Amino acid sequence: MGFNIAIDGPAGAGKSTIARKIAAKKGYIYVDTGAMYRAMALYLLREKAAPDQINEKCEGADITIGYENGEQVVYLNGENVNPYIRSEEVGRMASVSSPNPRVREKLTQLQQKLAADADVVMDGRDIGTCVLPGAQVKVYLTADSHERALRRYKELSDKGEACDLATIERDIIERDRQDMTREISPLMQAEDAVLIDSSHMSIDEVVEAVVALCAT
Ligand code: DC
Repeated sequence: MGFNIAIDGPAGAGKSTIARKIAAKKGYIYVDTGAMYRAMALYLLREKAAPDQINEKCEGADITIGYENGEQVVYLNGENVNPYIRSEEVGRMASVSSPNPRVREKLTQLQQKLAADADVVMDGRDIGTCVLPGAQVKVYLTADSHERALRRYKELSDKGEACDLATIERDIIERDRQDMTREISPLMQAEDAVLIDSSHMSIDEVVEAVVALCAT
């Protein structure tokens, strides 16, 4: 097993930004597991899969990852789907399809294989609890829902997209509820994970806090 850093937490806590920076600093590979669940969701949307067909239809999705110019690229049946997986529609479908046991089994196997062969920073919802229970460093990164909504609002506004803060916050609270209450691999802090609340911390402060954990 390589050196594994597991970062879990709710949507919008800043996991991917932090994980990417830590990976660059340590020379590790960054693995964004949410992107894999999104690629599966995209496949299911394209297949027009009803909720009761997810189990059977997910078998047709071959998801792999690669790296181009240092960025993770997700391939769905050989196609680079990075440009299509960030939409709200795909995010909603990922929330609906990710609790499915067959979906989780397929993607967990892929994630464990990646971490077995390399030093990785992996972020998601169940990395410290299920995917990499033996990770050397585990972090549960959170921030209050209003702060997370403000960050998302700013991100969308900066891109020129019309959005509404109250709606974003409502969606974040609903996504937390779905991720935390599902039966299989719910989002929760692993017993041995360090809790970091980034509500009043800068990105660099969080990165330093996690890097310091790697040295202990
Ligand atoms: O982090 P994200 O928004 O890209 O994740 C998309 C969805 O995938 C989200 O609903 C939670 C789910 N997910 C999961 O169930 N397990 C993971 N390890 C990562 C993401």
